[in-house]
Amino acid sequence: MIEAKIRGLGTYVPERVMTNADWEKILDTTDEWIVQRTGIRERHVAAPKEVTSDMGTHAARRAMEDAGVSEEDIDLLICATASPDTLLPSTACWMQPKLGLEGKPAFDISAACSGFVYGITVADQFVKSGQYNNVLVVGAEMLTRMVDWQDRSICVLLGDGAGAAVVSSQGEGGRILGSRLHADGTYGELLWIPAGGTRMPPTLETVEKRLHYYTMRGNELFKIAVKSMADVTKELLEGLAMDSGAIDWVVPHQANVRILQALAKRLRVPWERVVVNIERYGNTSAASIPLAFDEALHDDRIKRGDNILFVSFGGGLTWSALIVEW
Ligand code: COA
Repeated sequence: MIEAKIRGLGTYVPERVMTNADWEKILDTTDEWIVQRTGIRERHVAAPKEVTSDMGTHAARRAMEDAGVSEEDIDLLICATASPDTLLPSTACWMQPKLGLEGKPAFDISAACSGFVYGITVADQFVKSGQYNNVLVVGAEMLTRMVDWQDRSICVLLGDGAGAAVVSSQGEGGRILGSRLHADGTYGELLWIPAGGTRMPPTLETVEKRLHYYTMRGNELFKIAVKSMADVTKELLEGLAMDSGAIDWVVPHQANVRILQALAKRLRVPWERVVVNIERYGNTSAASIPLAFDEALHDDRIKRGDNILFVSFGGGLTWSALIVEW
């Protein structure tokens, strides 16, 4: 039986850092409100000339270097994003020539903040089936360009960044033990972009009413987030005949530090075992798990042999969990 492994990892964040104090200057908000309600202190914001595929390309190149693979070795490119360069073509297709992967299959995954775990799961299937040896999975998000900078209920929460992984049939450690994916479209309007698609094509009126920006019902999402991430983790652990005590590290999607505290409690995982970096990046959607994972690898918290739980939740609604034996 072929195994699928996370063989290399890479990340990228834009240079510009925007603090809560910077938001205070342009919006009716306070550092105190943002820190207390979310745990966020600052986030990175892309340069005007940058686009999502540029950020994804930087992260992907670093992941390929980390994995020790070249363009010829990559069989498939998957990009998870909720902030694409364009509606058509996919961000993966924009990224492909920048990476020298012309001719290789490339597609996007639209699963919002769950996109990275969805992407790794798809890659896992292609590798385990024997069809591909090396799949490049990128989570790239430029959310600061998708939100209304006058809507304080959401704009302070989000940040830009990208992370990428090479999922491979070869390599030391990084074995993907299993995953579970879920979605429930009946909750679609809890986090969505009302206009710009076939449901409400763009007009002057939709622009004036600011309907092409992200719209979120944060309060309702909060409760569902905690429950769904705890449930999918329990389902996955049961499927793998593992106990939550076997999890060495939880690397969750970073949406709100209070969501993560509630999740740790429900899973009975000590808080010190949860990798949290939301204070410096905000919510970077599909990029948040690789950004947190990369940080915990580089500061030597995560060691070879550790069991790592990736767990996420996002618009769709979508939620998912995956366990890797590092
Ligand atoms: N600064 C200051 N006040 C703000 C604010 C801001 N940036 N944003 C909202 N407020 C105000 C609201 O207007 C409201 O005021 P009111 O009581 O006078 O009406 C008050 O703060 C409380 O708002 P509420 O929405 O109840 O706050 P909350 O404690 O639920 O926190 C979120 C809001 C968005 C931080 C929180 O609900 C959350 O994180 N939800 C989950 C979001 C999520 O996971 N999203 C993405 C999925 S990946």
